[in-house]
Amino acid sequence: MTINRPQPRPGVLDIAPYVPGKSTAPGVDKVFKLSSNETPLGPSPNAIAAYRAAGDHLEDYPDGSASALREAIGAAFGLDPDRIVCGAGSDDLLNLLARAYLTDGDEAIYTRHGFVVYPIATMGTGAKAVAVPEKNFTADVDAILKAVTPRTKLVFLANPNNPTGTYVPFDEVKRLQKSLPAHVLLVLDAAYAEYVQRNDYESGIELVATTDNVVMTRTFSKIYGLAALRLGWMYGPAHVVDAINRIRGPFNVNNPAIAAGIAAIRDTAHVEKSRAHNTRWLAWLTEEIGKLGLPVTPSAANFVLIHFPETNGRTAKDADDFLTRRGLILRQVGVYKLPNALRMSVGTEEANRLVVQALKEFLGKAA
Ligand SMILES: Cc1ncc(COP(=O)(O)O)c(C=O)c1O
Repeated sequence: MTINRPQPRPGVLDIAPYVPGKSTAPGVDKVFKLSSNETPLGPSPNAIAAYRAAGDHLEDYPDGSASALREAIGAAFGLDPDRIVCGAGSDDLLNLLARAYLTDGDEAIYTRHGFVVYPIATMGTGAKAVAVPEKNFTADVDAILKAVTPRTKLVFLANPNNPTGTYVPFDEVKRLQKSLPAHVLLVLDAAYAEYVQRNDYESGIELVATTDNVVMTRTFSKIYGLAALRLGWMYGPAHVVDAINRIRGPFNVNNPAIAAGIAAIRDTAHVEKSRAHNTRWLAWLTEEIGKLGLPVTPSAANFVLIHFPETNGRTAKDADDFLTRRGLILRQVGVYKLPNALRMSVGTEEANRLVVQALKEFLGKAA
């Protein structure tokens, strides 16, 4: 049947729209939002000051190439600023990568519990999103390689992954890159890299620097606390940077975001403080929630994945309802094929303790 009205390209209407984490709990005054992996410590005070100062000149277009920000990122990470592209969040960059490298009939691989933006970005181009199995909630390099076909153009790998918090060690990422056909672009999404405290982890910088088919994306939304401003960046080979610069919006990053981003990346003491807070409370939450008999997937990021039984009254959905009534907002992850789990961002000490106490009561284990 032909419908006589404008039609989006094939695939678009098959996309399940992204649903952000809840931020309200009806009837509760004090709400602790632990549903979107934001930092409980907020941004650097210097970033807030820079953002405010940028507000004095809202009439000016931003620098379309975000040069000062790329230089600040380059200085912080020892990278060539010409190999960096900034975006309105790393979402922007993930979508641009999909648009630049995928077309109708192509395939992009992602992992079963991988970040949902990958299939959304892929299907928006008319390409097919191919989900591959994971092992122990962790991306499996062999499963990814097995799914490669002549139509594969992109592989998306979140490392660490959201919502599982698991990571792929550097040796395995290297093996993946080596075994992929040279024309397949490997996108390493390192949104949570700053939190990782593991000797066998590498965010992607080394592989980008030494190969021709790897891109790394990063964000200012997590440890830098600038999620509201929408700011991310990618580091890639010159030929990929060139392609992305041709299709990105000419002013895709706004001035207040540029100013705040520069201040945030220079405030290494604040980043250190946020990392230390996370390391301490991630371990505490994993242990305390585990002691309640709820398995927690070991996380290298700033959130934990908590698994619930399927027993009536004890399910993830029941727990979410119970916690929400107390203003403790976690994230249901059914859309990630994890219907029996909740994801919780590491919060303030107060929020973390309240969740553990509430879970005790939910399970009928409170003293
Ligand atoms: C794995 C992963 N990649 C990318 C993003 C998007 O970050 P941004 O706020 O930079 O668009 C997120 C945000 O939750 C994420 O979890």
